[in-house]
This record gives sequence, structure tokens and C-alpha cells, in this order.
Amino acid sequence: MAKYSVSIFVLAALFASNAFAHEQGSLLVRAGLANVDPDASSSALVLDGVAVGSSEADVDDNTQLGLTFAYMLTDRIAVEVLASTPFKHDISAETGDLGLGEVDAGETKHLPPTVSLLYYINDSASRFQPYVGAGINYTLFFEEDVDSQLEGVLGNGSLELDPSWGLSAQVGMDYMLNDKAFINASIWWIDIDTDADFRFPANRLTTDVEIDPFVYQLTFGWRF
Ligand code: NI
Repeated sequence: MAKYSVSIFVLAALFASNAFAHEQGSLLVRAGLANVDPDASSSALVLDGVAVGSSEADVDDNTQLGLTFAYMLTDRIAVEVLASTPFKHDISAETGDLGLGEVDAGETKHLPPTVSLLYYINDSASRFQPYVGAGINYTLFFEEDVDSQLEGVLGNGSLELDPSWGLSAQVGMDYMLNDKAFINASIWWIDIDTDADFRFPANRLTTDVEIDPFVYQLTFGWRF
């Protein structure tokens, strides 16, 4: 009888360590698709120091390979890094009183590394692991380029976008397929603001752009 009890105890212990536990020391690696969908708004375009009435810049969306690494500091709290291959966005401008209509203004690549703290809501043994997070984002723009459509009007130009520091907020969930593998869905809102500075032979065009994207990520994950 005693032997039987010990067996039950050992089995129970094995089962417990074998459950879906996200626990202190776990490393969660996720890879999949990440879509950056700007909710852009901007100040009026400023041409040679004069604001152009009814004008605005806009930024389109882009999908890349997204990677996140999360390390469980406790059974419920993780520190997470969001990384990706570079996003590439087209920038358009409604020229308003300039009378050119909507033009393709340029394009840029960017990397938006984001470090967050996540709080897992459910018990660590649960198969379904929803979480909320908050973090800090740094966005670096590079390979900015002026579109030929705008250059057709103002001549060959250059574009510079300032880097951005901002806060981010996140919700997401891991769903354990087994002890190691899981699927993840997560949404970030990231405060990304930049100054766009277009320079042409005889003109300068500037605007402050609030990119403030939602980032949607769907990934496959592995727990180490
Ligand atoms: Ni903003």
C-alpha cells in the first residue's frame, strides 16, 4: 500500500512538472508574421516655412517576419523583446492647396525594437495564457527615399525621418499545443512620432507625422 502511494505521488509530481507551465526561467521564442498598420496623422505640410492648407501626409501598412523573445522573471511576469526584419512603408501626401492632389511622396524602411514587461493573467499551469504588457519602443528609420512623382514636381530630393522613442501597450495570448509548442496572437499599440524633412534644389518640405501604428503578430512559439 505504501509503495502504491509513493507511485501515485511520483506520478502526480511528474504530471505537475509536465503540465503547460509558463514558469520562472522559461524562455519563450515566437516567430511568424508581423503587420505594422499605421494610424497616421500629420501636421500640415510646410513648404519653405509656409503651412499648406488642407495638406497631410499618410503612411501605408507593411508585413514582415516578426520575432519575439520573452523570459519569465516569475511565474507571471516576463520581459519581452520584439524584433523583426525591416518594415518598408510608402509615404503619400495630400497636397491640399498646392493643388497637386494626392501624390506618392516617398518611402522608408524602419526597425521598431520594443522591450516590454508582460503580466500573465492565468495560473501558470493553464493551457491558455493571456497577457497584458507595457513597454518602450525605439524606431530607427533608414533608406528614406523621395518618390519620383514628387521629384517630378520639385526636382531631385532627399528625405530624412528622425528616430522616435515612445511607449507601447500590448495584449496577447499563448495557447499551448503541448508541453513545448504553442501558438501566439498579439497586438501592440506603439507611439511612434517623427519629423519628415524633404529637401529639394530650391525647396524644403517638412511635416510632423504621428505614425502611432497597431502591430498585429501571429506566430508559432517554442518554450525552452
Ligand atoms: Ni504619437
